[in-house]
Amino acid sequence: MKIPFNRADIGKHDLELLSESISAGHISGNGPFTKQAEARITEILGNDKTLLTTSCTHALEMAALLLRLQPDDEVIVPAFTFVSTASAFMLYGAKPVFVDVRQDTLNIDIDQVESAITSRTKAICVVHYGGIACEMERLVKISRDHNLVLIEDNAHGLFAKYKGKYLGTFGALATQSFHETKNITCGEGGALILNDPSLSERAEILREKGTDRTKFLRGQVDKYTWVDVGSSWVISDLLAAILYGQLQRADEIYLQRMHIWSRYHNELLSWASSNSVITPTIPDGCEHTGHVYHLRFQRGIQRDKFIEHLKNLGIYAVFHYQPLHLSTVGRSLGGDDGQFPITESAGDCLVRLPLFNTMPEDEQSHVIESVKVFNP
Ligand SMILES: Cc1ncc(COP(=O)(O)O)c(C=O)c1O
Repeated sequence: MKIPFNRADIGKHDLELLSESISAGHISGNGPFTKQAEARITEILGNDKTLLTTSCTHALEMAALLLRLQPDDEVIVPAFTFVSTASAFMLYGAKPVFVDVRQDTLNIDIDQVESAITSRTKAICVVHYGGIACEMERLVKISRDHNLVLIEDNAHGLFAKYKGKYLGTFGALATQSFHETKNITCGEGGALILNDPSLSERAEILREKGTDRTKFLRGQVDKYTWVDVGSSWVISDLLAAILYGQLQRADEIYLQRMHIWSRYHNELLSWASSNSVITPTIPDGCEHTGHVYHLRFQRGIQRDKFIEHLKNLGIYAVFHYQPLHLSTVGRSLGGDDGQFPITESAGDCLVRLPLFNTMPEDEQSHVIESVKVFNP
């Protein structure tokens, strides 16, 4: 049995919509499926505007451009995240300032955020790791008190909630990913979630190469022209059609993923506690969507042996983020060993188990049995 880490579920319904998009003849950006997918997300989240983009990375870049960053501006980000959370801001001239994450959720450590604020801080960009929320009231308050823009890199957490409110609706801006490993996917894709109406019009312009083409397509101007800087971040309507199909199936995908996530959690708890392996913590008030199931060993060597053990049994389990402050760029910004111990330990000791909504029961049973025979 060969069990991949992820198997994207592009189903019959999604393919029918893809074929509809081809027949309708609008396969470039800003087409009918893009509009329907954006409207669906906004209808659920209740945000001001949703703009589909070519990736979460590009949505983060749009967020950075919307901030009108100046050289020497700083953006506080967790050291335990994907490269794009930091590089998007650096691309537009700001300095990412790293802080460590909390031991329980691996989300940004808010005490450290407060200590990292300086007169040059412009924004805080948080990540809801595995779709499990950061403590949003505190973050909203800190960003208001210091007049900072709060951005949620919600790559993992579409439709997850914190105290009954959807993730992505707390900050002025949030970003989503529809990469093939995400719960809802179109291969590569993303979205910028706008919660501050004063940013929405400019965001549309940035996404359309710095032009007011979106207004033109809505019939609000009779020709479109160059009005600002920008780039080409619109997604092809072919991908938006697949995405719309996935969004229509979101409840079903959610239930399937939660079933698999919960089965791992229930069946591995006792093995984990007798082997000092840490399982995910879901704080009160957090409703996640079963995006990541991870285990953390006490030592990196145990994690590496575990990945090898599963590989020998045909199972592909993977590690996750490597500490950004210890990357080549991170070190050039002053990052050093031992600076953020929880991030460093998660980089060395964390492993993600295979998890996808179509995972057959016997495949998951094989993973669970294979985990349980491992003796760290
Ligand atoms: C937290 C986080 N932000 C951003 C990204 C980048 O997403 P994309 O591949 O859609 O650009 C990822 C990738 O998985 C991620 O984990």
